[in-house]
Amino acid sequence: MPYYRVTGEVPRKRHIRFHRPDGGLYSEELMGEEGFSSDSSLLYHTHLPTAITKSEGVADGGQAGTVPNHPLLPRHVRTTALAAGGDLVLGRALLFANDDVRISFVSAAAPSGLYRNSAGDEAVYIQQGSAVFESVYGTITARSGDYVVVPRGTIHRWLPADAGVSALAIEASGHIRPPRRYLSAAGQFLEHAPYSERDLRGPEGPLLADGQDVPVIVRTRGGLTRLTYAHHPFDVVGWDGCLYPYAFNIADFEPVLKRTHAPPPVHQTFEGPNFVICSFCPRPLDFDPEAVPIPYNHHNVDSDEMMFYVGGDYTARKGSGIGVGSITLHPAGFTHGPQPGAVEAAVAGLAEGKTTTDETAVMIDTFRPLNLGPAARQAEDPEYAWTWARSGPS
Ligand SMILES: [Fe+2]
Repeated sequence: MPYYRVTGEVPRKRHIRFHRPDGGLYSEELMGEEGFSSDSSLLYHTHLPTAITKSEGVADGGQAGTVPNHPLLPRHVRTTALAAGGDLVLGRALLFANDDVRISFVSAAAPSGLYRNSAGDEAVYIQQGSAVFESVYGTITARSGDYVVVPRGTIHRWLPADAGVSALAIEASGHIRPPRRYLSAAGQFLEHAPYSERDLRGPEGPLLADGQDVPVIVRTRGGLTRLTYAHHPFDVVGWDGCLYPYAFNIADFEPVLKRTHAPPPVHQTFEGPNFVICSFCPRPLDFDPEAVPIPYNHHNVDSDEMMFYVGGDYTARKGSGIGVGSITLHPAGFTHGPQPGAVEAAVAGLAEGKTTTDETAVMIDTFRPLNLGPAARQAEDPEYAWTWARSGPS
């Protein structure tokens, strides 16, 4: 995934001589997943992509500062309380983490340096603002509502627009892909999938940047390293293959409905190692005459559920203090559901003609518990856990 793409100049066959205008040979770089037994792309660099001149360790918190969610509580974090600053890579404020995924919030206006995450794929959800994503594969213009999926090992940088950008950064320990059940055996999106190839925006390019002694921050499981490359990595004249970054906008997700309330798997957008990403989008409400158009109390026994409220009015959480920019964590071991009075209000709303919901939210369900990062503890609403015990909505 996603699907075959070719950009810039490539020779007629793989692994044959491809000459530069000066008579020398372009340098191949095969980026391949799963030991070259899965998707790959073949890039052609003007200079050697192997030439490094320096390697320096860079301080990184990693998962330092994270603590278990103990004693067990549902959590509410207000991202609006987190300070802006830095760039879209090094300015990330760690909210939640386990061995499978790190989830951070970032609000930044400065351009990032060159960055390569070799610990896993990333999905960066743009909450507000816009940014240009530049990479060895070319450029993606990212806007509000985009998930930008960055394959492991992609050298890239983020250039926010003047007004800055806020985003949720989801860093996996493996690959982030469309759910397997949405795809044919050969990888084409099936008709029942809530999005398809036409909704994915690949990089435009190539960039053909020039420069010498160019630093690249590399994340591995060992931490951060600053490698200095002899030549700018964005010296690719062309590439082809099925491995590259792409953007998918949440507004292009086609909601799936039932007459009565549909469970979260209908909202699934991506899958990662031991987690899923779901998109809750504006849609008609459940339409059975006796429908309760709101989630039922539920216990996702194998998962912690993290929900990022990014738009609209979220009926089920009325009276809890939750608004746009809020993040909730409903952990395994805790049954959660609508706040008191929300079910009755939703039923009454349906009778009064409220037949649609404008809610937009990004959910991450992890199959192992999430620890709390420093930013989650700093911006937590300590009253949230007790809101179901109140008598009604406020
Ligand atoms: Fe839930």
